[in-house]
Amino acid sequence: MIGRDLLSIEDLDRSEIERLLDTAEVKKVPTLRGRTIINLFFEPSTRTRASFEIAGKRLSADVINFSPSASSMKKSESILDTAKTLEAMDADAVIVRHEVSGVPKRIAEVLEAPVINAGDGAHEHPTQALLDCFTVRQAKGKIDGLTVTIVGDILHSRVARSNILAFRKLGAEVRIAAPPPMIPPAVESTFGVKAYTSLREALEGADVVMALRIQNERLEGAFFPSVREYSATYGIDRAKLQYAKEDAIVMHPGPINRGVELSHDLADHKPSVILDQVRNGVALRMAVLYLFAGRAPRERNGEGA
Ligand code: CP
Repeated sequence: MIGRDLLSIEDLDRSEIERLLDTAEVKKVPTLRGRTIINLFFEPSTRTRASFEIAGKRLSADVINFSPSASSMKKSESILDTAKTLEAMDADAVIVRHEVSGVPKRIAEVLEAPVINAGDGAHEHPTQALLDCFTVRQAKGKIDGLTVTIVGDILHSRVARSNILAFRKLGAEVRIAAPPPMIPPAVESTFGVKAYTSLREALEGADVVMALRIQNERLEGAFFPSVREYSATYGIDRAKLQYAKEDAIVMHPGPINRGVELSHDLADHKPSVILDQVRNGVALRMAVLYLFAGRAPRERNGEGA
C-alpha cells in the first residue's frame, strides 16, 4: 500500500517501486480533472518542475507554479505558513524542492495533502531515481542482475542516494566511483555498494554508467585538485567507456557540466540515454501524480476507499 507522501525511496518497497514503473508504462486518461497540483520550488529546476507541470496538465489537473521570490515569503511569511496557505486553496498534492534536506518531510508533517519530494538538499530525489530505473528497464528490459556504476560527486548527490536505494531494491549491483573526499563515510556498509577510486575497476562489466554533476553550489573546500584533473580521471568519454560492457548505456540526471563529468560527444549521442531520461520524467511523474494525488483522502491515509 503506497503511503500518503513520496519523500524517500527508503519508504517504498520493491513491489511499490515496480507498481510506479508499471503505471508509467500505461497511457493515462484525464484522471485528475478538477484536482489542483502545486509546484513549490525553492531551488532552481528545469526538468523536474517542467515535467511535473506537463504531467499534471496531461492528466487535466490545474497546476500552479508557486514562485517564492514573488510571494509573501518576501514579507517574512514562513515556509510552513506558506504551504498551509496554499493547501487551504484545496491543493490535492504539493511538489516540494528545497536546498535544505528534510524540508519536504517537515511540510508533510503539517499538511493533509500528499507531499512529493522533488529534491531536498543532499538527501533524496526520489522521482529522479524512479525515472532512471524506468529508463534502464526500457533500455535493458530488466534491472535485476545488472551492474550500475555511478560516477562523480556521490557525497553531495541526492540523485546518487535515491538511485543507490532504488536500483538495489530492484536487484541491481551498484558501484560508485569518485575521488576519495567525494565518497561518503561507511557508504559500503550503509548502502550495500562497492566504492572505487579507480574508474577503470568500477566500470569493468558495467551495464549502466551514470555520470553525476559536480555540484559547485554544494562544494566547500577542495575535493579535487582541479577541474581538468577531475575530468581526466573521472570524466566519462568514449575511451573510458571501453572499460564497461560493449552495450553499456550512459546516463546523466542533468544539468550537465559538458567536458567535465561527461564528454560533449557522449552528452549528445548514443549510447547516452539522457534525453530518454528527460522524456520518461513526464511519464513517470504522471504515474506519481496519478497514484498519489488521484486518491481520496481516506484511501491515501490507509483507511480504504
Ligand atoms: N535532474 C534534475 O533534477 O534536474 P533539474 O534540476 O533541472 O530539475
